[in-house]
Amino acid sequence: EAKPDPLITEVQDWNRYLGEGVDKRPYGTPSPFEKHIVRRDVSWLTASPDSSVNFTPLHELDGIITPSGLCFERHHGGIAEINPANHRLMIHGLVDKPLVFTMEDIRRMPRQNHVHFLECAANSGMEWRGAQLNGCQFTHGMIHNVMYTGVPLKLLLAEAGLKPSAKWLMLEGADASGMNRSLPVGKALDDVLIAFAMNGEALRPEQGYPLRAVVPGWEGNIWVKWLRRIEAGDKPWQAREETSKYTDLLADGRSRRYTFIMDAKSVVTNPSPQAPLKHKGRNVLSGLAWSGRGTIKRVDVTLDGGRNWQSARIDGPVLEKSLTRFYVDFDWAGQELLVQSRAMDSTGYVQPTKDELRKVRGVNSIYHNNGIQTWHVRPSGETENVEIA
Ligand code: MTE
Ligand code: CO
Repeated sequence: EAKPDPLITEVQDWNRYLGEGVDKRPYGTPSPFEKHIVRRDVSWLTASPDSSVNFTPLHELDGIITPSGLCFERHHGGIAEINPANHRLMIHGLVDKPLVFTMEDIRRMPRQNHVHFLECAANSGMEWRGAQLNGCQFTHGMIHNVMYTGVPLKLLLAEAGLKPSAKWLMLEGADASGMNRSLPVGKALDDVLIAFAMNGEALRPEQGYPLRAVVPGWEGNIWVKWLRRIEAGDKPWQAREETSKYTDLLADGRSRRYTFIMDAKSVVTNPSPQAPLKHKGRNVLSGLAWSGRGTIKRVDVTLDGGRNWQSARIDGPVLEKSLTRFYVDFDWAGQELLVQSRAMDSTGYVQPTKDELRKVRGVNSIYHNNGIQTWHVRPSGETENVEIA
């Protein structure tokens, strides 16, 4: 005869006493039992926290939206704290009428809502020479997926009257790094958003409050935060972030430049090193796929290192240049697994293996590593970052 479970047979404290009333938490926070779910850094990666990065806990999330407080952060000069009343956006250079917008001006213009992923070009950058970091938070966590509210850049440029000679724009941040990047006018007129809200609330300070550029499908570095200036010119500015950084040094010493688009990529978030398998029998494998060129068409998953592949079940919205959630519902008998996922996007592009990538790109650069990730699940359920030939 089974012992009675006191969690069922005895009245618990939360059932016996009144709970806290409304307004105790005017801005809600997660349950104290979720305290461990936070952004984390890798201490040896950077010299100081002011110019550093932390990582989204992908293995703890579900669906496609990243909660605002868990979006990874990448700052070159710390977080600027800006009173929106004192923020200005200037548009000048090759325009008919140089303009300065206040936040109130921007909020009176027609706005749109779009869900997009932001992936740092350096995401998975530590993995070029081999498996290194133990957890998808660290191998793939320089990404977040947010619903943005903002004004199409096209409308702001139309107010200023872009001259036909204008081919490039320079976006500049108001933070201590004054970070700037050159953006081709074609992209600016296509789908770039000047956003003031994320996930229904004002941008978080970490994400560029009160204003940031949203550049769908393109590397995170060009999504300038704390955006204060847009200059129109006839050629790129050759700024630090597009010469010494964010260029891809090839094996022969030449560099790929202006490699803006993030190619199709995917990762299994569960199981993964921080989220081992705990039960035999019924299990849910879960993961994320995305492409900077369009939507995700299909995700294939293997549990045995590529001998057998099956199509994953995609669930939730499948949006342009957005994270897409996939699942494989499977039974685990306790055998060793080599888990991989492989994304295919709406252009027909298939995510490459790491070796296929290295053949073309070498291992000199840390940027744009979209190779297939392998997790090794031991019979104990413990899971490790590995590579298989
Ligand atoms: N914009 C400014 N002004 N300053 C910065 O340091 N970092 C860039 C970009 N925009 C940065 C910036 C980089 S490298 C990335 S990957 C993204 O912002 C990170 O955006 P997040 O902090 O919202 O994740
Ligand atoms: Co970056």
